[in-house]
Amino acid sequence: MTSFMIRVPASSANIGPGFDSLGLAVNLYLTLEVTKQDKWEFISPSFAPGTPFEEHFIYKIAKQVADQHGKTLSPCLVKETTSVPLARGLGSSAAAIIAGIEIADQLGELKLTSEEKLGYATAIEGHPDNVAPALLGGLIVSTYVDNEVDWLKISDLDLELVAYIPKVELKTEAARNVLPEQYLNHDAALASGISNLTIAALLQGNYGLAGKMMEKDLFHEPYRKSLIPNYDLIKRQAKEHGAYGSVISGAGPTMVSFVPNGKSEHLVQQFKDVLPDYQVIPLKMDADGLKVEQI
Ligand code: HSE
Repeated sequence: MTSFMIRVPASSANIGPGFDSLGLAVNLYLTLEVTKQDKWEFISPSFAPGTPFEEHFIYKIAKQVADQHGKTLSPCLVKETTSVPLARGLGSSAAAIIAGIEIADQLGELKLTSEEKLGYATAIEGHPDNVAPALLGGLIVSTYVDNEVDWLKISDLDLELVAYIPKVELKTEAARNVLPEQYLNHDAALASGISNLTIAALLQGNYGLAGKMMEKDLFHEPYRKSLIPNYDLIKRQAKEHGAYGSVISGAGPTMVSFVPNGKSEHLVQQFKDVLPDYQVIPLKMDADGLKVEQI
């Protein structure tokens, strides 16, 4: 294979109480066109021309995985385009990790299974909630216990999303630093009950209850909300305009509302004047995850 295309979706992790465990693939994409040539070269919106290729995050991931298999990757021209905003809580780094693993798999002919790709990606990211939907598509419920990822995919969600993307960035590390190191038993039991009911409600298509539970998270939202611009306003106004519920997307600062099918455009219009500095966009679930095509 001398030329191939990799497409990886963005993802919205946590969905309220599913901290580090729930994530939904959405229809924004990181796309790479990879063509074999005599030297490595990255053409990328996030990569200043002249920067050594060894510093590109995707290259580092690809090399790391190839090294683990004792392979040297043949050099390529990698042209990157993306609609996934960086450092906004929409899984840009998870998409890049999946893309890097796929480059290693293709160029090194590693023949990795999905489980192996997910294992590598989760070990790199530290938790599976973004990398799993980026790889597999849909809404993924996952855990990472004893270095093993277990997961289930929920594909049939009859709803849409609206994303509220502010201009400011928020690094995941900063958003994780505000979280408590420990939870009281009573709070942890309550928080996991809320999470359990959210998933059960999503599975039964009871989106009203799912939205209500999403907004009751006790694992991370109470600690992060002061870092998220317009947190209360977005939740309140989205609900007034028919959203089931609104949550921080991943570690933020983007927020997402879960809305009935066909209602996302209406909500977007309502927020145009309210949040003029934001990118407010309708999103749909991506059901496929990673796609690779020979070109
Ligand atoms: N579950 C992660 C967090 C997602 O909220 O910190 C971002 O990596």
